[in-house]
Amino acid sequence: MCGIIGVVGETEETAAVDVLLDGLSQLEYRGYDSAGIALANTELNVHKAQGELEALESAVSRPALRGSSTGIGHTRWSTHGPPSDANAHPHTDADEQVAVVHNGIIENYQALRDELTAAGVEFASDTDTEVVPHLIASHLAAGDDPERAFRRAVDRIEGSYAIAAVFAGEDAIYGVRNESPLVLGLGDDASYLASDVPAFIDHTDRVVYLEDGEFVRLGPDGVQVTDADGTRVETTVETVDWDAADTGKSGYDHYMLKEIHEQPTALRQCLRGRVDELEGDISLESLADLEQSGPVQFVACGTSYHAALYGAALCREHGVRATASIASEYTTDRVPVDEDTLVVGVTQSGETADTLRALREASRAGGRTLAVTNTVGSSITRVCDHALYIRAGPEIGVAATKTFASQQLALTLLAASLSNTSSHREIESLRAVPDQVQTVLDTSQAKAIAEEFVNADAFFFIGRGLAYPVALEGALKFKEITYEHAEGFAAGELKHGPLALVTKDTPVFAIVTGDGKRARKTISNIKEVEARDAPVIVVTDGESEAERYADHVLEIPATDERGATVLANVQLQLVSYWVANLLGRSIDKPRNLAKSVTVE
Ligand code: F6R
Repeated sequence: MCGIIGVVGETEETAAVDVLLDGLSQLEYRGYDSAGIALANTELNVHKAQGELEALESAVSRPALRGSSTGIGHTRWSTHGPPSDANAHPHTDADEQVAVVHNGIIENYQALRDELTAAGVEFASDTDTEVVPHLIASHLAAGDDPERAFRRAVDRIEGSYAIAAVFAGEDAIYGVRNESPLVLGLGDDASYLASDVPAFIDHTDRVVYLEDGEFVRLGPDGVQVTDADGTRVETTVETVDWDAADTGKSGYDHYMLKEIHEQPTALRQCLRGRVDELEGDISLESLADLEQSGPVQFVACGTSYHAALYGAALCREHGVRATASIASEYTTDRVPVDEDTLVVGVTQSGETADTLRALREASRAGGRTLAVTNTVGSSITRVCDHALYIRAGPEIGVAATKTFASQQLALTLLAASLSNTSSHREIESLRAVPDQVQTVLDTSQAKAIAEEFVNADAFFFIGRGLAYPVALEGALKFKEITYEHAEGFAAGELKHGPLALVTKDTPVFAIVTGDGKRARKTISNIKEVEARDAPVIVVTDGESEAERYADHVLEIPATDERGATVLANVQLQLVSYWVANLLGRSIDKPRNLAKSVTVE
């Protein structure tokens, strides 16, 4: 949700304008309503444009701007004010002494705006951010130097923010974070600051994750991190093990397709060192000291909420009391925890504001907390007592794909570990999942199904047991990238209302795995759909008779229910992808969405 980048320092091969524009292209998943850059020389040089980054690229001449080695950039996901050139960041004061980029929400901006307006300031945008450069300018006018003016302005604002500012005539960037991510990159000749590592991974893999309340000054002489009082803070430099190729498209047309195809590797990484086939053991290194006898509450949003539902169902199957809540609803009532409760936040980015808020409240109420995330160093890992990494690698496409599969596997490991129950059979099937996903990718008929149904009126997805959250996820993915109406239902719920929507023009995707009671009951639900003339596509391992009642089959290899629901999800991802592709949608950057949702 908004991406920030900044650079200070001469590099041999690149000027600031190149670092900023190339870095923003890696951050577009955080928002793509508008973009802008500010370069600092004797004067500020600000360029911004509504629309995706291409619009900014066409509006500036890179060669003409290569004289500057210091600058900041921003890609926006609108919160205050519609997408427009004026609302694009960076924002400046009237005299262009300072330019500011911001990710987050300034909650007291209206009061500040009223105060500044009363003092004669004219605002050029509708954004909350614009109060910051005007506040800074007022402190500069009172005689403060840039650093002090920046700190005093930040003292006045409330809310969530990662902010970076450059000043005319100064070769430096000032930054601060509170509840929005900001990471520093330390190169040999240049320093970087960004919302996320991919923005500068081409230049350095040495990073420092800022904590809430920390300020930073990046200058030609290096990086100084200080606390709110200005006292120097010792930082830990970490080396990230992503390489730049991890964040490119590697020949695929879209990041989403690339990331769907990366799932076998992602799942192998998730399992590596954690399952012992011979001993039948699961060991989660980071949870060695986590003894859990009380209830488990999962909290998450969107796709991660579907993983949370899946995790809670798995825990219950293992005899652990577990529930899943949508994070934004979790804290609307009294927080239902005591010191025996483990609250598990599932979030690939580790930065989702609703999920962070729920975990902070749970912690305050005395609960123990665990982060299940893809992002080392993310905010959730600081908020929680424990962290379990899903190890999916960077995911750039806005629609979550490989991270959902890795969450499914990581939560399978977690459920077995919390209940101390795992069998050789279970471990064997877990280890087979990455190869079976590869088989699905190599043999899927999803493209042909997409071609047949691309013009349908609406698309429904049904499943039972562990397949229920996968049906919800199938529908969410579908609506997110195709913009078509799609809904997921528990298979047994169709007859309680949604069946009224079913017609010959509404294909129903039914997930049927195994040949047990759940499969038989879902087959009954398929017959109800068939009787209303709706085309049925079953996603099945062929263990039941489901295909007898289906118009089309998406096959998955036979395995247990846990593995099968991972495989079924891959088939549904491919159907969504191909329908969106046929409709010419913006697959990696669907309209109105952003990958990392850092506002509540
Ligand atoms: C959908 C999607 C979103 C995210 C949700 C939570 O494809 O990606 O629904 O799952 O915004 O994000 P994280 O997992 O980062 O907390």
